[in-house]
Amino acid sequence: MFRQSAKMQDVPFSSIRKVSAEVAKLKAQGVDVVGLSLGEPDFDTPPHIIEAMADAARRGETHYTNNKGIIELREAVCTKLRNDNGLEYDPEEIICTVGVTEGVFISLTSFLDPGDEILVPDPAWLNYTHVPTMNGAKSMGYSLREENEFQIDVDELEDKVTEKTKMMVILDPSNPTGSIQKKETLKKVAQFAVKHDLLVVSDEIYEKIIYDGNKHYSIAAFPGMRERTIVLNGFAKAYAMTGWRLGYVAAPYELIDVMTRLHMYSVTHASSMVQWGGVAALTGSQEPVEQMVAEFQRRRDFMVKALNDTKGLSCLNPGGAFYIFLNTTKTGMTCEEFTTFLLHEANVGVVPGTAFGSSGKGFVRISYATSMENLEKAAARIKEAMDGIIK
Ligand SMILES: Cc1ncc(COP(=O)(O)O)c(C=O)c1O
Repeated sequence: MFRQSAKMQDVPFSSIRKVSAEVAKLKAQGVDVVGLSLGEPDFDTPPHIIEAMADAARRGETHYTNNKGIIELREAVCTKLRNDNGLEYDPEEIICTVGVTEGVFISLTSFLDPGDEILVPDPAWLNYTHVPTMNGAKSMGYSLREENEFQIDVDELEDKVTEKTKMMVILDPSNPTGSIQKKETLKKVAQFAVKHDLLVVSDEIYEKIIYDGNKHYSIAAFPGMRERTIVLNGFAKAYAMTGWRLGYVAAPYELIDVMTRLHMYSVTHASSMVQWGGVAALTGSQEPVEQMVAEFQRRRDFMVKALNDTKGLSCLNPGGAFYIFLNTTKTGMTCEEFTTFLLHEANVGVVPGTAFGSSGKGFVRISYATSMENLEKAAARIKEAMDGIIK
């Protein structure tokens, strides 16, 4: 057996996948499980995007492209960033990536050295903890607390920052809390980043999935931030394109130059025909996105009410993404025990909050990216299981 590299020794498998595997196992045994663990829209990709990709393949767009991506997609990304976020970039400052996952990998790996520290939300999507580990860097969790509406607490950031802190991650809207950062919070975070001269990675993949008429703000648009921010965004969530593996990175040229070298030696470029699908997504009708978001909001409203009406459970009303971070402290179980309880007593699959960091203790993540019928079934089963244990 070959010994794994030192950098991989502390990198575990994702516990989200573990829950999904358990759900799949029970399903294979014939158990009717409702899986609320995956962060993936249940909708299919809008047809005009599929057509654009297929047309591209048929007309011979099957060759290598520029490492950063086709100019048509980079120009469409620049237009989107200008119109939606008030950000000005040149197409040379854009890299089209293999999902936002690649954007996370190249942005962190290009700038973290062993011994460096990076401030990462806790709880957060796991890649932000493990990619620093692979680079010998230390991710320092800053907590997003329910009593603070999951807002970033700049006082805590001041406590956590050291002379080794080089970078900071912002995930807005958040996976797993579903919270959106207020404009005043982002303003304070921007001032903190400038004061400590930090390079900021801003993951905005859920920006279009935002409710109640709220507006998304990119931290890159705040004073002093453009030059120190790497914006990550993509197509998976907003356009229901998870399997396409397409995202993009926007940053000042000097930063993009470093990331392009890592990108070219690891993936070459994002798939040629898939990039044409991305052009159609950005330049075509945004109506399918609006319809999906309206449906997500309907499901959120239903699920938040149903869970808050269940004895022993409570949650805030999330402003974005498609997750509810459910407070389970009154159940008397740890969140891992509660996850097992729900899976076996209610046949509902969720993810324990601790899978996203130690601040997730006492919570489970519920994804409502599934049909209303499934959600109704899940809510009724959760209520029945809770009635059995809480008098
Ligand atoms: C915050 C966040 N960033 C990035 C990703 C991955 O995006 P992609 O499918 O584009 O790689 C996810 C997926 O769950 C996510 O939650």
